[in-house]
Amino acid sequence: MLEDSYGREINYLRLAVTDRCNLRCTYCMPINGLHWLPQTALMSYEEMERICTLLVQMGITKIRITGGEPFIRKGMLPFLEKLSKLKGLEKTSITTNGLLIGDFIPQLKAIGIGAINLSLDTLDENRFLKIANRKGLNKVLHTLDQLLEYDIPVKINTVAMEDQNIEDIIPLVNLTKDKPISVRFIEEMPFSGGSRTPILNWNYKRILAHIQEEFPNIEKIQDPRHSTSLNYHIPHHKGNVGIIAAYSRLFCGDCNRIRITPTGGMRTCLYAPPQFNLKEAMREGKSDQELEQLLIQQIKGKPQNGWEAQKLKKKKGQESMANIGG
Ligand code: 5AD
Ligand code: SF4
Repeated sequence: MLEDSYGREINYLRLAVTDRCNLRCTYCMPINGLHWLPQTALMSYEEMERICTLLVQMGITKIRITGGEPFIRKGMLPFLEKLSKLKGLEKTSITTNGLLIGDFIPQLKAIGIGAINLSLDTLDENRFLKIANRKGLNKVLHTLDQLLEYDIPVKINTVAMEDQNIEDIIPLVNLTKDKPISVRFIEEMPFSGGSRTPILNWNYKRILAHIQEEFPNIEKIQDPRHSTSLNYHIPHHKGNVGIIAAYSRLFCGDCNRIRITPTGGMRTCLYAPPQFNLKEAMREGKSDQELEQLLIQQIKGKPQNGWEAQKLKKKKGQESMANIGG
């Protein structure tokens, strides 16, 4: 079992496989994209497999694949298939914008993908274009229906933004009426790659109050262990509603996660500066045993919470979730 110095069990890895994306969501990156990393700066599939195998042997039981958009990277499916066969790995899940996975859904089901988180910030075509700076709403909605057809558990991630999609909150909540999905509203975090300066005027309390106005009988339900969302249910709805206090950082005390960036950077907290680089360590020829020691050491240094982590940052950069790992 992996444990940090605060006694938190670490069993969840979020692995970002690329920084690239086919959308340009304003909360994540500028309209012209980021300075994309060259292929050689990324970990190769073999390197990612090596790290995942090692971490699963060490006690990681759940891996989420993120990006950027994971399916931008060629060869994702064979990689996922290999991951799914790792002994000890209980769940593999993916965070995606849903635009490129359509053709792969039967295969994702066949290899036993545990859950898909779909990014969807609006149900309005014009607002989709304004937020994502690309078209694609209908395709995402089609992906959602296909995933449900294949009985793959789906969560929707919606970043709540004052000037962008507040009018979508209730329509998105309404999706839970007939669909067995969890719709989660996320506080905007300051990781837009310089695209915008978020002002947190929609924190978790305000999001909840807004939903309660329309659904006064919404009920709090038990949050699963390590859940980052506060979870709610509206009577007679098939799905649930979640609110993720990603900026307020309510969930750190129970944090079980580490992150690996597309370049192999290890981060024990979203808000912490990058730590040591696994890709470089592997390319320097470190043995599995040496890597294991380095990983244990890093995990021991995991900050107590996202506020403490932020204090460790020396420069106030314009980071993007696409570089950190969404
Ligand atoms: N603030 C909050 N959530 C973000 N995400 C990406 N960037 C941000 C941000 N700045 C989340 C969104 C997106 C997923 C990949 O990560 O939910 O859909
Ligand atoms: Fe964990 Fe850091 Fe996120 Fe808190 S902010 S939940 S410590 S990753």
